[in-house]
Amino acid sequence: MKLIVAISRTNWIQLKSYMNVVIKNIRERHHRCDALILPFCQEDPGVYKSISPSTSSLIRKIFRREFSGKLHELLLVPSPEDVKPERILFVGIGKRNEASPEKVRQAGGKAASYAQNLGLRNIALSTEVLSSLKISPAIFIEGALLGTYKFRKYSTENDKKALSHITILSKASSGLLDEVRYVEAVSSSVLFARDLINTPANDMTPSHLVRVSHSLRGKNLSVRVIGKRDASKLGMGAYLSVAKGSEEPPKFIILHYKGTRKKPLVLIGKSITFDSGGLSLKPAEGMEKMKYDMAGGAAVLGVFRAVSQLKLPVHLVGILPATENLPGGSATKPGDIIHTIGGKTIEILNTDAEGRMTLADALGYAKRFSPCAMIDIATLTGACAIALGQVAIAMMGNDRELLDTIRKAGNTTYERVWEMPLFDEYREYIKSDIADLKNTGGRAGSLATSAYFLKEFAGEIPWVHLDIAGTAWAEKDKPYVPKGAAGIGVRLLTNVIRESI
Ligand code: BES
Ligand code: MN
Ligand code: ZN
Repeated sequence: MKLIVAISRTNWIQLKSYMNVVIKNIRERHHRCDALILPFCQEDPGVYKSISPSTSSLIRKIFRREFSGKLHELLLVPSPEDVKPERILFVGIGKRNEASPEKVRQAGGKAASYAQNLGLRNIALSTEVLSSLKISPAIFIEGALLGTYKFRKYSTENDKKALSHITILSKASSGLLDEVRYVEAVSSSVLFARDLINTPANDMTPSHLVRVSHSLRGKNLSVRVIGKRDASKLGMGAYLSVAKGSEEPPKFIILHYKGTRKKPLVLIGKSITFDSGGLSLKPAEGMEKMKYDMAGGAAVLGVFRAVSQLKLPVHLVGILPATENLPGGSATKPGDIIHTIGGKTIEILNTDAEGRMTLADALGYAKRFSPCAMIDIATLTGACAIALGQVAIAMMGNDRELLDTIRKAGNTTYERVWEMPLFDEYREYIKSDIADLKNTGGRAGSLATSAYFLKEFAGEIPWVHLDIAGTAWAEKDKPYVPKGAAGIGVRLLTNVIRESI
């Protein structure tokens, strides 16, 4: 039997590259492919006995010196004459008693990107060792799909090196098929988010985010956009204060996915398509990176893409308060005071603390959906990256159960979160002398005070804030995250949603 799950790397305009994942119940030696992938633990020279006698002796020989099975170790060799695969790729996953899904995911990323760089086009995965570890081959595939990503949109050189087929050599049980379908939908949505984030701000404008949102419309998924005039009528003074310096029209985008009639979960993604700091201008060095200040919004779009592809029976509202943050003749000035949609006033001390301004009105607006909970995801503070580096998402919130759910999803997906405090004393930091709040509490404690600021707008509704400033951009290649936009948050939040069903 042959089951095909076709993977569109992204369904977004102009970008077409495909990876096919196929599950096929066939012996390794009969399957023609560029390379057969054999994952090994360190103690494993005696596995894969059923492939062929000469393969077994090759494995024993190679384990004597060339390869030991350590995590991230790779070795490509020509295969013996008595099997159809042209080559064998030995892939290390480390000590057997320390094996974990994350190590398998990393091995998948390493192996597939290595094969792709060598120009191989189709590979096959033998599942014997993974089965013995009780780790789904779908996890390896997830690493492979994420790890072979390249941002191709702007390179005019025709780079033909793309791995196009992965075959899982296994019986196609309905369990495995479901796992592969899930991993396909979510991983391709991560790549979709990465493409959005990597796209420079001259193309990735608020209006372009509208086009992308519209491209996701479907049976249960609708999109509404509030423009500048209506936002002004609604009283979104905080959000609009950020847009004042820019010529690009701001777009307050609302996605609605209705797969059930329960109260919705609201996801809010920070969507600053470029953050120059405004009049509180950022230094020139590194400013080009501030195109990734819409990574929260991209994550929310990725989640909606995955959830609608999987047709999950859930009710979601997504909000992207999209705008640029630029200095200009009519830009907001330090000292200005504005009114939020909920009525609270904010004294703007630093126009570079713009994310929380857009999120304040998004949280205020979200309440009209009577949400069961709200989660915001934002590249909110430099302090987040200082505190946790590229390793973890900072998490703060007002609801223990929701916090714990997200922490668990973080451990499962390895998009790990670390909780920071929201002690009441932080309120002092953001109290203004002449308005209800000020938009920054100064340098000390700014990871916590930025979250405390948002808490003032979440009110009594269960709410969690995720600061992805450190994790949204990979400064160097990681096993399944090539340098650049990480697409963080898509796997985490889709897992939270799936577990809520
Ligand atoms: N978008 C930035 C935060 C950021 C910095 C994200 C570096 C990713 C990498 C945010 O809008 C910002 O400028 N925050 C300021 C706030 C400060 C002025 C209170 C910060 O953290 O420095
Ligand atoms: Mn800023
Ligand atoms: Zn910002």
